[in-house]
Amino acid sequence: MEYKKKLIEVALPLEAINAESAREKSIRHGHPSTLHLWWARRPLAAARAVIWSSLVNDPSSHLEEFPTEEAQNAERKRLFRILTELVKWENSNNQDILNAAKAEIMKYTDNNPPALLDPFAGGGSIPLEAQRLGLEAHASDLNPVAVMINKAMIEIPPKFAGQPPVNPESRKGLLSKPSSTDWRGASGLADDVRYYGEWMKKKAFERIGHLYPKVKDEHGHEHTVITVTTVFNKFFSRLLTDCSVIFTISTNLGSCFFTNPI
Ligand SMILES: C[S@@+](CC[C@H](N)C(=O)[O-])C[C@H]1O[C@@H](n2cnc3c(N)ncnc32)[C@H](O)[C@@H]1O
Repeated sequence: MEYKKKLIEVALPLEAINAESAREKSIRHGHPSTLHLWWARRPLAAARAVIWSSLVNDPSSHLEEFPTEEAQNAERKRLFRILTELVKWENSNNQDILNAAKAEIMKYTDNNPPALLDPFAGGGSIPLEAQRLGLEAHASDLNPVAVMINKAMIEIPPKFAGQPPVNPESRKGLLSKPSSTDWRGASGLADDVRYYGEWMKKKAFERIGHLYPKVKDEHGHEHTVITVTTVFNKFFSRLLTDCSVIFTISTNLGSCFFTNPI
């Protein structure tokens, strides 16, 4: 079989991919990928771009369709336009753009795209993006935390794809207006996670909230008191005995920590 070069082997719109990969870090609040911090997590934009361009052929592999360099360049530009839109965070669930990207994958895989296996999946960027592009995705990792992240992000949500939520509040709405919401993808599951997450937070607060009283500092700012017998320094895994001199552990705006030995 004649080998066909893939787009990734010839050219990529790197500036667009890099810019989106860098931007993603500051805007992905509330996204499942923030479930748990994974130090070496690859940006979703980069993973999406690499998978897509590894499946789509470069036009130079199709001389019958693109016989001249000009024709190949024009086709490459068209593929770049799809990829540039595909890597944008805002387009992560844009069905028109995803369908256009999937159509190219289908075209170059004889409508039979391969499954993807990431044996060192870590935070799961690669299998997550493979799934988004319509591939069957498999993931494994030595670390049980990574396995848990991948289960929560990649294995469980597809089981509830397209299903409406089951929480009582949304069910009331569904009964009164059955077609009011289009529960596409994991949006029904997400609605349940939000509802029951709030429920758990409320219940936890009712039961143990009194153990975390609020106090005001000398500037009138409110803080939560956490009483501990031993404090570990999370950066050096040592006992926090050093802080007996400096009682401020962190002064980062919005997340100040003080020790008050008694
Ligand atoms: C660089 S991280 C992968 C990051 C991932 N691509 C992401 O986007 O989050 C490498 C992963 O390989 C895993 N690992 C290392 N040795 C392994 C082994 N022998 N078998 C399975 N996983 C292993 C580590 O636990 C770690 O999660």
